[in-house]
Order: sequence, then C-alpha cells, then structure tokens
Amino acid sequence: MTSNPYPLGLRLHGRRVVVVGGGAVATRRLPALLDAGADVLLVAPELTPALRAQADAGRLHWVPRRFVPEDLDGAWLVQVAVDDSMAAASVSAVAAERRIFCVRADDRTAATAWTPAVTRHGPVTVAVLGGGDPRRAMTVRDAIRDLLAVRLAPDGIAGRPDASSGTTGGRQAGRVALVGAGPGDPELITVKGWRLLTEADVVVADRLVPGLLLDELRPDVELVDASKIPYGPSRAQEEINQILVDRALAGAFVVRLKGGDPYVFGRGGEELLACAAAGVPVTVVPGVTSSIAAPAAAGIPVTHRGVAHEFTVVSGHLAPDAPASLVRWDALAGLHGTLVILMGLKNLAAITATLIAHGRSPQTSAAVVQEATTGTQRVLRSTLGEVAADLLAAELRPPAVVVVGDVVDALDG
Ligand SMILES: C[S@@+](CC[C@H](N)C(=O)[O-])C[C@H]1O[C@@H](n2cnc3c(N)ncnc32)[C@H](O)[C@@H]1O
Repeated sequence: MTSNPYPLGLRLHGRRVVVVGGGAVATRRLPALLDAGADVLLVAPELTPALRAQADAGRLHWVPRRFVPEDLDGAWLVQVAVDDSMAAASVSAVAAERRIFCVRADDRTAATAWTPAVTRHGPVTVAVLGGGDPRRAMTVRDAIRDLLAVRLAPDGIAGRPDASSGTTGGRQAGRVALVGAGPGDPELITVKGWRLLTEADVVVADRLVPGLLLDELRPDVELVDASKIPYGPSRAQEEINQILVDRALAGAFVVRLKGGDPYVFGRGGEELLACAAAGVPVTVVPGVTSSIAAPAAAGIPVTHRGVAHEFTVVSGHLAPDAPASLVRWDALAGLHGTLVILMGLKNLAAITATLIAHGRSPQTSAAVVQEATTGTQRVLRSTLGEVAADLLAAELRPPAVVVVGDVVDALDG
C-alpha cells in the first residue's frame, strides 16, 4: 500500500544540497535550488553548457568525477539526476543510511522525496504532487497558474501582512510600479507586469497601452487615463508624477502602465525620480519595446548574421535641424547597421533627406510598421529615398516605427 506524501516547504538557504548528475535533468532542477539559496554541490564527470556556466560563475561547487559516499557529508537533501539506475540506487542507499531525503529522477517509487510541479506568483508558491504521476501534477499546476494569473486577489490567497517587505496581505501598499505593457498585443506584457497589474489599487495608463489589459481590471480599481490630463506635455507629466506620489503616499499600490518599455522614450526615469524624491518605493518592470517588437512583427530582425551587427534606436520627434535636437543625424548616416526611428512620421521627409545628404544610400531598404502586434497592423516596404512619399500615399499614421537598413529584406526568401 502506498501512503500519501507529506508536503513541506524546504528552507534551503545556505544548506548543502547535493546534485548527482550533470545532464538535462540536473539542468532543469538546478535553478529552483539556486533560487532557494541552497549551497549546491554538483557531482558529475561532465556538465551541460548551462550547468558549466553556473559553475564558472561560482554559483555552485562542481566536483568533476563520479559520486563517492563522502559527497553527502553535511547534506540536507540529495537529488539524483542520472539515468543509470545502478548508480542512482547506490546514491540513494548512502542517503538512506544517513537519513537524508533523496529525490530520484530515474525511479520515483524508489525515492524518499518527490519534487512537485510548481508555479510562483510573487510571495505565493503553489506546489502540486500528482500521486506519483508528474504529468498529472503539471496539468493541475497549469490550471492553477492560469487561474492565479487572472485572479490573484489582493486580499485573498496572498497571505498575511508582512511588515518587512512593505506589503499588506501580499499587496504592495504605498508603492509604485512602472510597468511596461508591451507594444500593443495584450499578451506581450510580462508575467510580472501582469501580476502587478492584477494587484493594483490605482492604474495610471498611457494612450498606447493595450486596451484589453485595462478591460480586465477589477471594478474597484481607480483608472487614471494619463492621455486625458489637460495642459501641455510638461505640465501633464508633472501632474502624472503628482498623482503617482499622492496615491502611493495615501497607501495605494499604484501601477504606472506604459506602452512598450518604460525607459524607452517613455519618461519613466522622470517618474522614478519624482517618486524617489517623495520617498515612495518604486519597482520597474521592463517591457517589450516597440523598437524591436514592431520590426519583428513585420518579419524584420533588427540584427542578422552577416547583415547588421548593430541597431540604433532614435527618436524622430524633432526635425534634424531643430535647435533642441540631441541626435547626430550626420553621424547616424555613416553607420551600416539598422536604424529604428520612433515618433518619426511627421519629420520623416527631413530625416531621410538628412541621412541621404550625409552619405546613406537612397537605395537602402526601409519599412514602416504601424500599430504593430495589433489587429490593425500595417507594413509598408520601400527605400530610404522613397519612404517619406510612400508613407503619405499609403496614409500611414502613428504609432509607427520606421526601420532603415539591409535587415528589412534579410528574411525575404
Ligand atoms: C513615446 S514613444 C514610446 C515608446 C515605448 N516606450 C516603447 O518602448 O515602445 C511612442 C512611439 O513608439 C512607437 N510605437 C509604440 N507602439 C507602437 C506600435 N504598436 N507599433 C508601432 N510603433 C509603436 C511609435 O513610434 C510611437 O510614436
């Protein structure tokens, strides 16, 4: 008769865990052990490149030979990640003699401990054991993960107040998160960004933020539409900074949701400084930036072997001859690589003329990608010499990214 396992959360920080084997299974098991702060001793004659990189970086101790019983000296746990069941059995026999729990990749029935399928949501860890069937465990885990991604309620599952981490009930009270929402497709927000959004009391959102993300907010969340704040751009930014600070100081968890990445032409730095000046803690969650994602969505890699070894992202919101422009268009014209221009439609004729005047060939391939990654994405392919006129004829409009360089044709068959 088999009895049910007894679930535990092992606190492995600084404790010796021995991993025997240096192949694919060990490679998969190691990150969670390192994440738990375990003092890992890896015993294996050879390692996968990923494990080797961890060893070279000093994140574990590697003993490049086969297992000997003394390897378990001082160990709290052993993970046997070898295919050879004779070798595995001899490790688990030594472990049993010393009363050390032993996980076996080759034979779960012979193991004294099982590793669960796990999903992590901030401070919450859900571990699922499938009665000895790892696939069942993973199926249940996936269902729970999907449920939590949508519904991780701030006052529900997340736990008790935790003064040391500044959270209450798992919530991040009195804080701001600058979250990149990605370029347009709501599925291109990061997992962390999405989780923080589901925990927010207040969401301050930009115009370019995918609407569907906002559609799914809880009804009690205060939504501030930053694009509707009156005044000019600089007063409006001050106003946004003030809203972030005021709401956070009043105890709310504020998510500042920004299109793409918060630090790519997103004024995220100014918001961080305003919060810091007011003593409000800030978390920054990077996002998928349109400067890379928009070309990708149009089938254009920003770099390609043998074609481009660099890409430069530049704002075209000021004309090349504008006194306030910080861009050396003449120098950019001398580069061979990829140029990605954001906010450049209005000034595109002047920009392309300047690049050509300083030596970039008018035959260089160019493309414009409008509303990338959304259902209304449009792509125009042209050349540096023609793109400004083609853009007008095709009536493309912002938001759009312009890509200049040989990469535009790199993946054409
Ligand atoms: C103020 S900048 C913000 C950029 C953003 N932080 C990012 O990382 O993508 C706005 C510009 O980004 C570009 N952009 C943003 N989303 C886009 C999309 N879905 N398709 C094409 N261009 C986009 C356009 O050039 C637009 O004018």
